[in-house]
Amino acid sequence: MAIPDHIIDQIQDRTDIVEVISRFIPLKKAGKSYKAPCPFHHEKTPSFIVSPDKQIYHCFGCGAGGNVFSFLMRYENLQFPEVVEMLAEKAGIMLPRDSLQKSQTNSFADQLYKINELACQFFQICLKNSASAKEYLVSRGIGDETAKKFKIGYAPDSWEALLNFFKNKDIGSNILEKAGLAIANEKGGHYDRFRNRVIFPILDLKDRILGFGARVLDSSLPKYINSPETAIYSKGRNLYGLNFSKEDIKRCGHALVVEGYLDLIIPYQSGIRNVMATLGTALTIDQVRLVKRFVNTVIMVYDPDEAGESASLRSLELFISEDVNVYIAELSSGLDPDSYIRKFGAEDFLKLIKASKNVFDYKFDKLKNRFDITSAHGKAGIVSEMLPTITKINNAVFRSDLIKKLAEKLSVDEGAIKLELKKIKPDFAERRYIVSPSEVKKDSRSAELMVLALLLDNENFIKRIMRDLSLDEFKDSSVRDVVGAISTLYIEKKEITPARLINHLGSTSEAADLVSEAVNILEMLVDKDKALTDCVARIKKDNIKDQLGRLQDAIKIAHNQKDEERVKRLVTEYNSLVKANRG
Ligand code: UTP
Ligand code: MN
Repeated sequence: MAIPDHIIDQIQDRTDIVEVISRFIPLKKAGKSYKAPCPFHHEKTPSFIVSPDKQIYHCFGCGAGGNVFSFLMRYENLQFPEVVEMLAEKAGIMLPRDSLQKSQTNSFADQLYKINELACQFFQICLKNSASAKEYLVSRGIGDETAKKFKIGYAPDSWEALLNFFKNKDIGSNILEKAGLAIANEKGGHYDRFRNRVIFPILDLKDRILGFGARVLDSSLPKYINSPETAIYSKGRNLYGLNFSKEDIKRCGHALVVEGYLDLIIPYQSGIRNVMATLGTALTIDQVRLVKRFVNTVIMVYDPDEAGESASLRSLELFISEDVNVYIAELSSGLDPDSYIRKFGAEDFLKLIKASKNVFDYKFDKLKNRFDITSAHGKAGIVSEMLPTITKINNAVFRSDLIKKLAEKLSVDEGAIKLELKKIKPDFAERRYIVSPSEVKKDSRSAELMVLALLLDNENFIKRIMRDLSLDEFKDSSVRDVVGAISTLYIEKKEITPARLINHLGSTSEAADLVSEAVNILEMLVDKDKALTDCVARIKKDNIKDQLGRLQDAIKIAHNQKDEERVKRLVTEYNSLVKANRG
């Protein structure tokens, strides 16, 4: 991190997370902590907890958590340096002028926004001057008003048009490369990334331009090229069009989720404005949380050919596990929202939206076509396909209601379906509630997480873990990263608080979620000492089991290859590993 750690710590110490969060949402005192309905997912009973002691927040519903920095980054959609600046000012801390790095990081993002803004203006002018690009927009049914609203442009058919435009403004090719607009060639020079393409700028919720998508004018490939990940653009954290549609989405109470640029622009132009687009990639948790700031019901609009595919079903399940209501609208085969509206009109499109099905009816109807619903075999098949989706639901009442419906639809016993449900491994969403050491024995991720929690409790535990476990014995890579950071801080003799640790980890949302989850596990633990001993044993045992498994595989392979020498060596190794770990 570019800003010196001790300054971040100072800001952290002089800021009260309760005071900051209550500027945005009303907090209610509950014992030592404060409570509220979570701002990152939709809920009625509050499961969002803010701890003044630990200076962190955590939501038991969706798992979001972190310190005051991560809260502001997530809630206000800001970059870390922007949050630092904001909190420093409140806390009356001067950020050192010569802390060059700081002003650099800060102005670097600003510089990229500025460059994107200029590039966008350039592309818009080029559109005015290009007959073929204008003709293309006409052929796609995009009117002048719409093109202006979405800041659509055109990148000319040239290797250096944009580079030259910036050269005149004294902006060099290196920073254009960092903005994703130029690409370096082997000779150390640069060329324009986007050439002879229609340009769709991607804006954030503050209408800043993050990057661009660019489409060919004909049928050549690749059809679209997009800005790469840059200091300000991360594909998985944004949704195209949300800046335009967020107010309409709030008003409607539901959002249509589509895939492509045009699938947003054309409906929008025809008056259907509660739309956002994933730009053809699999949905991420950050995107789901972004959606939840505005709405808790979504309708996915799909081509029926792809709707049943596992990638789109996974997106559905991500929404479900975050307590978002999901409906599915199917268009006729081969059509996407853009082409459907152009062919049949907005009214017909809206009829399809009205006829959308909830996930379960939708999935059930699909499965009915694949399985023979009258045979026991078919029924079992449907149950086993439905259960993974049902387990994603956090609310036990909803879950049991669906099981009942499924039982009725198949005319099988509800108890039988519940029995099958138990066989399915609980996924992470359910594991986060496992807190008693006896339960830890069942699950090594919980054991790793609990070790992490205990490390935050007590320095003696850090010493013990550094002696008893090596980093690579942790299987979960995020837990491993956090434990690694704790040992580094410990060796450097730095004070370790959960809130400071999150800053040290670079304030990524994953690390912040993890640390706050760990802290909350800690609060529920009674016998910490025993918990640590049990967890270490569990982790070791799991690792040995893995090692034995790998040896078994190797033995099989050596055996098949008739390499008796090697078989013998591996078997000896296997036996001594078993012996060393007995008792
Ligand atoms: P589609 O292939 O469905 O294209 O990709 P589309 O949006 O209908 O494109 P048009 O109507 O022919 O213009 C859906 C989305 O996936 C991304 C784009 O964001 C696109 O809108 N995509 C697709 C790419 O990024 N690159 C590609 O080569 C293709
Ligand atoms: Mn299309």
